[in-house]
Amino acid sequence: MHDILEHKSRVSPKVDLPFMAPTHPIAEPGQRPFAADDYQTVGSPFVDKAKFAMRDVNVFYGEKQAVVNVSLDIAENEVIAMIGPSGCGKSTFLRCLNRMNDTIEACRVSGSIQLDGQEIYSSKMDVVPLRARVGMVFQKPNPFPKSIYENVAYGPKIHGLVNRRVDLDEIVETSLRRAGLWDEVKDRLDAPGTSLSGGQQQRLCIARTIAVSPEVILMDEPCSALDPIATAKIEELIAELSENYTIAIVTHSMQQAARVSHRTAYFHLGKLIEVNDTQKVFTTPDHPLTEAYITGRFG
Ligand SMILES: Nc1ncnc2c1ncn2[C@@H]1O[C@H](COP(=O)(O)OP(=O)(O)OP(=O)(O)O)[C@@H](O)[C@H]1O
Ligand SMILES: [Mg+2]
Repeated sequence: MHDILEHKSRVSPKVDLPFMAPTHPIAEPGQRPFAADDYQTVGSPFVDKAKFAMRDVNVFYGEKQAVVNVSLDIAENEVIAMIGPSGCGKSTFLRCLNRMNDTIEACRVSGSIQLDGQEIYSSKMDVVPLRARVGMVFQKPNPFPKSIYENVAYGPKIHGLVNRRVDLDEIVETSLRRAGLWDEVKDRLDAPGTSLSGGQQQRLCIARTIAVSPEVILMDEPCSALDPIATAKIEELIAELSENYTIAIVTHSMQQAARVSHRTAYFHLGKLIEVNDTQKVFTTPDHPLTEAYITGRFG
């Protein structure tokens, strides 16, 4: 079993994505592809200066375990992509980072998750400011049933970031500009957020997230409901935002992971199998399961 974990890939680095020829056999149905309990993540899950440091994170929904012993650092101003087959625990893991799983009754999280050295699951941690520091953009754009202006102004107002209308106006404009939406909406800020197209709504949600000056932005398949043009805009935006923010993005698009991220983490059945520089994951992955996934053998 261990020789699989130590296996080094022979995939040629020059082949275009995602049509690389698979070089490893994968498990037959019913056969366990690797030891179930003594797995270790291969690659480089740890960094020198971690913004987020997660150790031995386990997540259960009732009896069912969705995330198994995951240890991972996320560096400041890094874009990290999380990939893997449906149901492998990507969203569950992402939601741990701003305690969004707290809202799911049967969900239980164990292990250590530190943001700038502070334990976020500590009873001393207040989740409201935590969720402002660690914002989230969801798969389906979910603007509030309010005007475009109010969608962006809401967060700064409830977090008490501003007192004067002119300051609020400035935050709304800056956030919409940063989200690449200002020019398209500046003449109709009073229109409902829901009157925008899907891609515009997603950029509005990103503007809403950045309006409270988060340090980290979590994105769970932010482009899966968007057309290629809107997707390209969001991807450009991710590249720009990464200058100021740390970003963790879950995606089913390997091209997207390859385009936007510095490191890529591959999850399989709740386990973090491999983390490496994105280029390496998509050309010479260290683990045969990663390779099987990126060559399209399952997923
Ligand atoms: N609210 C919930 N209650 C019970 N089980 C859940 C809940 N949410 C997720 N799960 C289970 O946890 C496991 C991981 O789910 P999760 O949504 O994290 O996977 P995912 O990798 O994000 O999948 P996808 O790519 O389809 O979005 C799955 O087996 C799923 O059925
Ligand atoms: Mg998901």
